[in-house]
Amino acid sequence: MKIRKCLFPAAGYGTRFLPATKATPKEMLPVLTKPLIQYGVEEAIEAGMDTMAIVTGRGKRAIEDHFDISYELEHQIKGTSKEHYLTEIRDVITKCTFSYTRQVEMKGLGHAILTGETLIGNQPFAVILADDLCDNDSEAGSVLSQMVRLYDKYKCCIVAIEEVPKEHTNKYGIIEGKLMEDDVFVISNMVEKPDPEVAPSNLAIIGRYILTPDIFDVIRDTKPGKGGEIQITDALMTQAQKGMVLGYKFKGKRFDCGSVDGFVEATNYFYQKEIAQTIEKTKEKKK
Ligand code: G1P
Repeated sequence: MKIRKCLFPAAGYGTRFLPATKATPKEMLPVLTKPLIQYGVEEAIEAGMDTMAIVTGRGKRAIEDHFDISYELEHQIKGTSKEHYLTEIRDVITKCTFSYTRQVEMKGLGHAILTGETLIGNQPFAVILADDLCDNDSEAGSVLSQMVRLYDKYKCCIVAIEEVPKEHTNKYGIIEGKLMEDDVFVISNMVEKPDPEVAPSNLAIIGRYILTPDIFDVIRDTKPGKGGEIQITDALMTQAQKGMVLGYKFKGKRFDCGSVDGFVEATNYFYQKEIAQTIEKTKEKKK
């Protein structure tokens, strides 16, 4: 079955970006001129998905307005030199549909994903955590499209992983596994945010998942774990024991835009990239 749906857990408070996130969803913070969640949606579209399922919460209405037509704005800028600013978002809106549900209580990422069941139903789906911003690899494509190709081969749950400095293991889900093919690990152990001394490796889960729908029943049976929250890492560990879960060391670049450092790094990176592209285009025109 082709993966058509992508779930975006987007109910979190974004406390690390206060006061900016007091009245603005953290998913709407822009890197250059584009909000984080739009980068995520574009990545899902690039990976062949056309249905975006967004788990929101209180104070997140700006996300719904962003993925909608603003007739007043359209009217104002129609035929002006500013019209091109809306090209990308118009394109996104015409290519896919958006549905929303609210997470009423914040009980962890596993709980947020379970809240999305009503939008996903009984089919495999992707999950994007918008504050992990990924840039495509020039050859392999987006992180999610690399994972979809792997899913087509193995038809099981997959998490994206990358090596992190050992002292940062307590910020991530950490996996342990056996290399099955280039960059692909069969997971034997996964732990949510372990201290460096007890972490099974330095292979960290980043915010891209492919999940099969049986995960919903597993989450329902998963007890609160780290921080008293229902963790997707724990549910996936159960899946790994019952069947197979893969860790995929993706090609491309990822920024932790949930932290100020990562956000600034991403902004600089995409700005440099844009400048390089503008120079390239100017050269092309001159030829
Ligand atoms: C979540 C997951 C964690 C994962 C991380 C990736 O944590 O629980 O396993 O490594 O996303 O960004 P959060 O950053 O939401 O605390």
